[in-house]
Amino acid sequence: MKIVKIHSILFCVFILGFISCNQKKEQKIEQTVNAQAEIILDLLDLQKKNKLGKDTLVIVENDPVYHKTKKYLAVNASAIVKKEIDLSKVDIKNTLIVFECIDGYKPEMPLELFLKAKPYLAFKDIDAAKGSNWERIIKDGNEMNADPFYLVYTSVPTDNQEYKWPYNVIKFQLVSKNINNALKPIDDEKVTKGFVLYQKQCITCHAINGIGGEMGPELNYPKSVTEYWKENELVDYIVNPASFRNKVKMPTLGITKQQSQEIVDYLKYMSEHKKVNSN
Ligand code: HEC
Repeated sequence: MKIVKIHSILFCVFILGFISCNQKKEQKIEQTVNAQAEIILDLLDLQKKNKLGKDTLVIVENDPVYHKTKKYLAVNASAIVKKEIDLSKVDIKNTLIVFECIDGYKPEMPLELFLKAKPYLAFKDIDAAKGSNWERIIKDGNEMNADPFYLVYTSVPTDNQEYKWPYNVIKFQLVSKNINNALKPIDDEKVTKGFVLYQKQCITCHAINGIGGEMGPELNYPKSVTEYWKENELVDYIVNPASFRNKVKMPTLGITKQQSQEIVDYLKYMSEHKKVNSN
């Protein structure tokens, strides 16, 4: 009798242990998935902690920023992502990598493409004059440099717009593709064209409901631009910002008046769908 009792107690303890272990595991995975919109790598912080991996010399033919062949000291960017983030818990096909730059510019590309493209984070330009890290970049008449990091590739076509080459990069962020769906018009098909144009041309610099870049102002919340601009002026501004403002930072993007109207129609639609997003 006694032996049976001990056995069943041991059995119970075993089962309990098994159940609680499994519960813990499940909780962890769930947390990671929920937190997916929040995964951020602070590159300067990793650099300070010496966690960027070993330096490599890379040669970039036809560099799209400098328009010539360049040599950089760099670190392997996909290795950093793989080392710092447990990608087995990330739905890679449905995730974007967003590159956050010093001025709030936030270009993005599919994570899957990034991982396959052999990206490097350049931190020093071999051609730079003594005492500086970079050969200067001239953009819109202003002199810039690429500090602290410039994202480059050695084996992708440099004219393929799908690959992003941001400089002044400070953070990598992984976001679910679904987060952009939050800005998708759901009950008005007419504004879909404007939405697609907006995603392509504007979201790198502007946020709607807190989602998007921060180089330019938020366009929807608390007050939509469509509420304080005259509609025809707004359409013209988006086509040619420099005709409105001196020393304007927003570039002329080469969009037509009709496309601009489509974007404004989309912005009007979003003004009826305001929502603050915590991101
Ligand atoms: C490279 C970054 C960049 C891109 C891309 C960009 N903008 Fe801008 N935008 C700005 C900046 C910066 C400002 C602030 C004014 C300035 O200095 O140019 C601005 C200002 C504006 C304003 C005026 C806001 C106000 O209240 O005065 C509107 C409207 C606007 N942008 C719409 C758009 C739309 C629509 C697109 C896409 C077709 C777009 N922008 C693309 C950077 C950008």
